[in-house]
Amino acid sequence: MSKLLIQGPSRLKGEIRVHGAKNSTLPLMAASLLCDSTCVLHNCPILSDVKTSEKILQHLGCRTGRSGSDVLIDPRGVEQSDIPEHLMREMRSSIVFLGAILSRMGRAELSFPGGCELGPRPIDLHLSALRKMGVTIQEDHGCLKCSAPEGLKGVQIAFSFPSVGATENVLLAACCAGGTTTITNAAREPEICDLADFLNCCGAKISGAGDSTIVIEGVKSLHGCEHEVIPDRIAAATYLAATAATGGSIILNHVVPEHLAPVLPLFEESGCRFAIHEKEIYMSAPSRLGRIKNVRTMPYPGFPTDAQAPMMAMAAVANGTSIFVENIFESRYKHVGELLRLGANIKVEGRVAVVEGVGRLSGAPVEAADLRGGAALVVAGLAAQGETLVSGVRHIDRGYECLEENLCLLGAQVKRLPD
Ligand code: EPZ
Repeated sequence: MSKLLIQGPSRLKGEIRVHGAKNSTLPLMAASLLCDSTCVLHNCPILSDVKTSEKILQHLGCRTGRSGSDVLIDPRGVEQSDIPEHLMREMRSSIVFLGAILSRMGRAELSFPGGCELGPRPIDLHLSALRKMGVTIQEDHGCLKCSAPEGLKGVQIAFSFPSVGATENVLLAACCAGGTTTITNAAREPEICDLADFLNCCGAKISGAGDSTIVIEGVKSLHGCEHEVIPDRIAAATYLAATAATGGSIILNHVVPEHLAPVLPLFEESGCRFAIHEKEIYMSAPSRLGRIKNVRTMPYPGFPTDAQAPMMAMAAVANGTSIFVENIFESRYKHVGELLRLGANIKVEGRVAVVEGVGRLSGAPVEAADLRGGAALVVAGLAAQGETLVSGVRHIDRGYECLEENLCLLGAQVKRLPD
């Protein structure tokens, strides 16, 4: 397993281009299954989760190819309807393929995603919505056997929580269903809008994406299209956190500033200054950050849970006490123990973490247990005095393309040590 060796502290300074959003790319790749001709996705990041999605598509019978950041998917040869267990285990979010496979094949078989590093990962909302749409689901020894012998039908779906994955699965299942589907309390994340834009470009009739009520009129078929994946707002927030933690300045290119609206005020609260122009954000940080009073993770347009860990690493070196409340996932503080090894002062009680900023962190060996927690360790390592060796880098590689190259471009000293 490769490791990242960080020699800190460094003050990040420079300009980088933000890659395409992982959490848009995966559902978009699943959506290509609905089409009767080739799809081309531009701005697809090179990440292990995207490679896993390609393997799933190939297993199902798609031809896929990549040229730079373009991924081409030809879904005409699809004849399988299952996802092998090892691919489900590699990426628990492969559950987002369920709605698309069902729509295309009228049946689907995959293993239950089970718990993961973020705690239990139930899919009850996905399954109850699909059942309502006419899918019969048998749960058998950790395996889900789904079929829709009479086809999928449009219905009213009211979510008790605006789940991102469940909203995506219903969108995928409903595009070619008989009749109209209405989702209330739908997730409003930018990735939902990106998926709806892609599907509409393929001939679907979806309105309201980005609001909490989405209406999908079923159509007979979808055709392929070309689509550009939106920029990764969480990667952008992570680079901002790294820059802020090191008292640096950065220009982020190719971002949608509006998607970062829930996070930018917290950087401002800590003393960072911004200049925003179209797809570009310039941020400069003070040499010592101020505290962020409260960070409460919420569904979009609230503060994103995926940015909680990198932001906590930044708060660890701020002047004063910052309070974090994690409302989305049950177990998303695994980075805290590792931040303590670097000299942070953080106390966790249930969903709340109290971060007392310290003057200086000091380098140490640490281990990433999950993707964003791993990114937080990198942020902290950049601000820490001395060497930080981050292991468990495979988690980080799931979501950040060319992380060490980008950080080196910004003046950091980061090296990947091979296995
Ligand atoms: C998506 O996960 C993202 N993953 C996550 O990003 C992100 O953290 C999350 O949305 C929230 O924004 C992808 O897009 C691939 P949810 P998802 O369904 O769809 C509970 C990252 O680091 N829930 O909105 O799985 C669930 O347990 C990742 O990039 C149910 O109870 O998120 C969780 O507590 C990690 N029953 C909450 O809802 C269900 O049927 C939010 O989950 C579904 C969800």
